[in-house]
Amino acid sequence: MPDSTRIEGPHPPSSILVTGAAGNLGREVVARLQAQGGHVRRLVRRQTPPRAGAESVVGDLTDPAVVREALAGIDAVFLIWPLLDSAPAHDVVAELTAAGPRVVYLSTTAIDDEAARQSDPIAQVHRDMEGLLHEAGLHPVVLRSDTLASNTRGWAPQLRAGDVVSGLDIARTAVVDERDVADAAVAVLLARHDRLDQGSHVLTGPEVLSRADQVAHLGAALRRPLRFQALPADLARSRMLADGRPEPLVDALIAASVRRPESNRITDHVERLTGRPAGTFAKWALDHVADFG
Ligand SMILES: NC(=O)c1ccc[n+]([C@@H]2O[C@H](COP(=O)([O-])OP(=O)(O)OC[C@H]3O[C@@H](n4cnc5c(N)ncnc54)[C@H](OP(=O)(O)O)[C@@H]3O)[C@@H](O)[C@H]2O)c1
Repeated sequence: MPDSTRIEGPHPPSSILVTGAAGNLGREVVARLQAQGGHVRRLVRRQTPPRAGAESVVGDLTDPAVVREALAGIDAVFLIWPLLDSAPAHDVVAELTAAGPRVVYLSTTAIDDEAARQSDPIAQVHRDMEGLLHEAGLHPVVLRSDTLASNTRGWAPQLRAGDVVSGLDIARTAVVDERDVADAAVAVLLARHDRLDQGSHVLTGPEVLSRADQVAHLGAALRRPLRFQALPADLARSRMLADGRPEPLVDALIAASVRRPESNRITDHVERLTGRPAGTFAKWALDHVADFG
């Protein structure tokens, strides 16, 4: 990944915009920025209960007028792109270029830098977003995150009904605690310009886990004999569609399941950015027992 940092003097950003602020990761980022006493603005798609001490702009991330309003007076942006298409990002990137904040973009470890086309649409859209941000001269700080532990919250309805989690299997990867990713994001969002780490940031957990491993860790935390049952792609597809998931997303998830290779890469980048090692999924499970009750 190219170096990605502008040097603009010593002062850290003081006014931060968080996109996806109601999401699993975004709300952790907001909470940490608020704890540090910074001025935080949340971009949320729908009106949510107000969060003391944080402003909110309500609207769609793909709407340039919303993004312009959200960027007014902002020094740094935590940017996610939760879509499967980067085309609407051109206008958003133009707004970012006009406003000129530090941009911290949350990407994925699934990107293969050697490949002309990525293995699946999710990796592809992040590759495209990184390219757009670099090409616009925004010098983004890119955080490539491994699979977030918080994704397993999606299993909660099944675990309330029984001891089996069934779904798409996916290649083993170094699942990372979203609280560690949030800590790393806050470290780069708030870093003094002259102290910003200019290396690439690849955020992983400390061990490579399958979905069956994650279910087993949840079972240990919940003290129940849980197991994972991998579903064939066609059955998983029809179930996800029946659950109301949009077809392009379902197809992207199937492509990731079928085509994404196993990743054995474990880095110390969480520790480099935050000063402490990444937490285990077993610890995440113990800390989130209530989410599955
Ligand atoms: N999850 C992973 O394993 C992983 C790994 C690497 C990178 N990432 C990246 O990290 C991002 C955040 O992950 P997450 O787990 O926190 O996702 P999440 O819990 O699904 O949160 C995404 C948030 O984005 C909001 N959103 C979606 N479309 C929007 C739009 N068009 N305009 C404005 N807001 C919109 C959603 O709003 P609503 O609450 O209204 O739905 C939601 O609050 C992902 O979108 C992905 O790009 C994720």
